[in-house]
Amino acid sequence: MIQILDKVFHLTNGKFSYAFYVKNGKLVHSYFGKALIVTERTLSNSAVAFGLKDNTGRDCECFEYSELGGGDYRVPAIVVRNGKCISTDFVYSSHEVLKTKPDFGMPALRNGGQTLKVSLRDDLLKLELYLYYTVFDNGLARRAELKNLGSDSVVIDRLMSACIEFPAHGYDIIDLNGRWGRECNVSRNPAGCGIKTFASGRGVTSHQHNPFVAVVDGDATEHFGDAFGMNLIYSGNFDIQCETDEKNRLRVNIGVNIAADGITLNGGCAFGSPEVAIVYSDEGIGGMSREFHKLYRKNLLNPKFADKRRPVVVNSWESMYFDLSEAKFLDFIEGAKGMGIDTIVLDDGWFGKRDSDNSSLGDWFIDKAKFPNGLKKIIDCCKKNGMDFGIWFEPEAINPESKLFKAHPDWALGVDGRERRQMRNQYVLDFSRAEVVDCIFKQMKAILDEYDISYVKWDMNRPLSDVISAEKYIKFVSGVYELYERLNKEYPDLIIEGCSSGGGRFDPAILYYSPFIWTSDDTDAYERAHIQYGTSLCYPLQTLSNHVSVCPNHQTGRTIPLCTRGAVASLGSLGYELNLGKLSEEEREEIRRQIAAYKADAELILTGDLYRLLNPFETGGKFCEEIVSPDKSRAYVVYLRGLNECNMPLPPLRLRGLDETAVYTVKEKNLTLTGGDLMYGGIDLDVYGKDFGSEILHIERIA
Ligand code: GLA
Repeated sequence: MIQILDKVFHLTNGKFSYAFYVKNGKLVHSYFGKALIVTERTLSNSAVAFGLKDNTGRDCECFEYSELGGGDYRVPAIVVRNGKCISTDFVYSSHEVLKTKPDFGMPALRNGGQTLKVSLRDDLLKLELYLYYTVFDNGLARRAELKNLGSDSVVIDRLMSACIEFPAHGYDIIDLNGRWGRECNVSRNPAGCGIKTFASGRGVTSHQHNPFVAVVDGDATEHFGDAFGMNLIYSGNFDIQCETDEKNRLRVNIGVNIAADGITLNGGCAFGSPEVAIVYSDEGIGGMSREFHKLYRKNLLNPKFADKRRPVVVNSWESMYFDLSEAKFLDFIEGAKGMGIDTIVLDDGWFGKRDSDNSSLGDWFIDKAKFPNGLKKIIDCCKKNGMDFGIWFEPEAINPESKLFKAHPDWALGVDGRERRQMRNQYVLDFSRAEVVDCIFKQMKAILDEYDISYVKWDMNRPLSDVISAEKYIKFVSGVYELYERLNKEYPDLIIEGCSSGGGRFDPAILYYSPFIWTSDDTDAYERAHIQYGTSLCYPLQTLSNHVSVCPNHQTGRTIPLCTRGAVASLGSLGYELNLGKLSEEEREEIRRQIAAYKADAELILTGDLYRLLNPFETGGKFCEEIVSPDKSRAYVVYLRGLNECNMPLPPLRLRGLDETAVYTVKEKNLTLTGGDLMYGGIDLDVYGKDFGSEILHIERIA
């Protein structure tokens, strides 16, 4: 709902209120937090109504969209220069409520209704700034756009998607950081004093920082307290700056990280930021995650795939790497037959002359030395056995050792007169150029048209380098979205699994196109539990692609019981990354059971409310997640013990989110208890005596 009275703006979905108003021509932020009941009387007295002191003097204000050079000395949301001046003075000019959220040609939240558009003007620089706000059942979308009304060009150095002010409450900041094989570590730190930055300058989202930040009460826990989350719907360079000033007020700026030379905006032209998804919960960090999950399930993911079980795949990578042949792959398919697998995925190594990672990216035609019959024989074999077929591409990549590079050396990103830098023996294609995107689309199309392929794994295995301008970075990302759009349009039923050396591009813009993303190349269940825990802070479980792999694990050398590997992988979209035919009959039987059980539980896992009960980052590796059906009639619990410890008591596990007066059974323990018993008394676990032991519990309401 959007309430407006005399230039006081109140946005609410009944759970949060977000308010700002016009004072002396400037937009002043007023309140963001638990929903307030706002009447006409309170609305007309904005500052008091929203509990904010009516500060005087411009440097004291909490601006709705901060700028440079006007007496606000904190990090600005907008910086524009025209060659003579870097100071702006945007003054409110008008507002309107649009019936629906305008489409601005980038991935964004879907089905947005009423949208507030506030226009501000800098008459000297002849610029108009538009701020957009759309309220959703589970969050708020914001973005900004700048239009050059004059005839001379200006340069944009910064145009954040949102600037959000928080009063001096002593907040903590949570970010998700990492590296290859260790994505989404959860770090929580006091906002402190000064500026904290989380950013990517890699041209892609990055393993290092996720475009997510949370601001939580200093004493908030997983289950209690105010928690605000912000997540940029973008897949390129981004910048999140959290500044705490001398009065302990916190300002968060989130948006695209525009590289040094800025974006030139010619007369009459406009430049828009991507959208940021913002959520609020007064039920702690867990409540914040549940808001994100609902928002993304309802308003971000392609409705065709959202809330539907993704195929249970078996992927060839860890069992064959580049050592592929038709005979080996037929054997791989035979091994998967009758196990409950939906889709066989042929990973890297099937094209060009790709016997290692040093060649052929860009040459998307079948290596006849490995597959003399093309893909026909292996796809026929999948189909005959009731399974679909999927295939790996790395569309944005090119090896110098490839036909494509020899034909078009200028198609790789590069700087004239300088040797390009290789990473994983490859360059990145210049996706800012339409003909490059077109060539890759046509090559993919040739494969997708010739064969019955229902699934693509889209990988991206290195960051950008040798980029000549800020504009190039931005246009590169547009080129990626363009290829996604063309694929989605041409093949609406094609499922595209996102991937970037694991979870290096786990962001909401990729999720707009890809209903799930390979969470990490680290398939060790113990480490993976940490990664999945962190990823779930922002992203719904159904978007986490998790595979069971062999032991000793290829990344850590560790051996973990198969049941635990299955249990951890079941907390998302389950798949396998091993040659099922090479397992013992006992292991095969166990996997058959895992897949059947997963399929029976999938609706609950993919659409239920997530409660994280044990945080492995804080408990020395103990991990527990519970998923409760929206009507509270069922729950699915996975508990993982880290290392076994001598004489270490395990406290009873207290569940959450159930109906305290209802009666439930705990199937695996043959118990009948009330929801209150389960939530306040808890249940004893039974995983002593084993490293990495695990339990799965099914809770069902019977009365
Ligand atoms: C990346 C992916 C892996 C696999 C390899 C293939 O590392 O994350 O799953 O596809 O590329 O080269």
